[in-house]
Amino acid sequence: MITLGIESSCDDTSIAIIKDGITILTSMVSSQIEIHKRFGGVVPEVASRKHLEAILPLLNEALNAASITLNDIDQIAVTSGPGLLGPLLIGLTTAKALAWYLKKPLIPVNHIEAHLTASFLAASKKPEYPFIGLIVSGGHSNLVYATGPRKFECLARTLDDAPGELFDKIARHLGLGYPGGPVIQKEGENGDPHRYTLPMPMRKKGYVFSFSGLKTAVIRITQQEGKNLNCADLCAALQYVVAEIFAEKIEMALKDRPAKTIAMAGGVAANKVLRERIKKLADKHRVDLLLPTIHLCTDNAAMIAAHGYFSANTVSGNPLEVNAVANWEMGEG
Ligand code: KG4
Ligand code: ZN
Repeated sequence: MITLGIESSCDDTSIAIIKDGITILTSMVSSQIEIHKRFGGVVPEVASRKHLEAILPLLNEALNAASITLNDIDQIAVTSGPGLLGPLLIGLTTAKALAWYLKKPLIPVNHIEAHLTASFLAASKKPEYPFIGLIVSGGHSNLVYATGPRKFECLARTLDDAPGELFDKIARHLGLGYPGGPVIQKEGENGDPHRYTLPMPMRKKGYVFSFSGLKTAVIRITQQEGKNLNCADLCAALQYVVAEIFAEKIEMALKDRPAKTIAMAGGVAANKVLRERIKKLADKHRVDLLLPTIHLCTDNAAMIAAHGYFSANTVSGNPLEVNAVANWEMGEG
């Protein structure tokens, strides 16, 4: 069964072709990072135009790379939310046109749910339930208990900023560039995580995340230190604290819910410090940790195709009439 995946919810146009939900034949991403860099964030109107330019040439490239033709595609999975409306509509309209022309099923996919499926895809495994999932990205910070392909109990979410947003804002403040996560990771590589003491918002306060206080604390340190600021140490401290926050909440979930697997996904799951910390936690509790490869952590269409494959039988109504949804909670219809 060949699934074509299409993703365009933010600043990456992506096309993937996968087999039987677990084998990637090809996964291509046309990134707009260089274009948005100078603005320090994604400009929706510019993103839509760039998706439009990129999507059909990328589809042709993907078909060639997988050595198949359009007629070999059995079904099409597409991100229909959440995300930026203009960019989402480019992918969704392309997918609808292809599904209609090829007379093949169309599966609208929730982007955030799909991030979790990337953890299983990276291990060439079909999702096994229940598991504890953590999605950490530029827009989300969701801790969930997954019991089925589209069944999630939301345990915790952020009250304000998402962790990727935190990294992006702090990197901009420090003049390190965009996107923030990778540059903060690189800068903090040889830093001392204990030179600066940062607060751990919502520590021991139950299932809730908050990152805006952390952002303010970091900015205050930069102002107090001025020219004496040790940027490497500050970046190391920031990553240390973020990893501790997530480790604490995942540990709570492991105690509260029966699960043998933790799946961590989303752009911030590429972070080395966070990956190592959660691995330590998983070993302590003797549970499996599924982590996507770095390329499957950030936005990609392979995760969309895989999630579409495993959730195809939950689609109701006429998918050709589905609209793009800017805000779409995980598990909702
Ligand atoms: O999941 P994603 O590609 O896009 C969505 O937000 O849906 O996540 C992008 C976010 C950005 O904020 C970026 O700074 C962050 O992921 N990120 C990282 C790393 N690589 C990307 N954060 C921390 N460490 C990284 N190595
Ligand atoms: Zn994403």
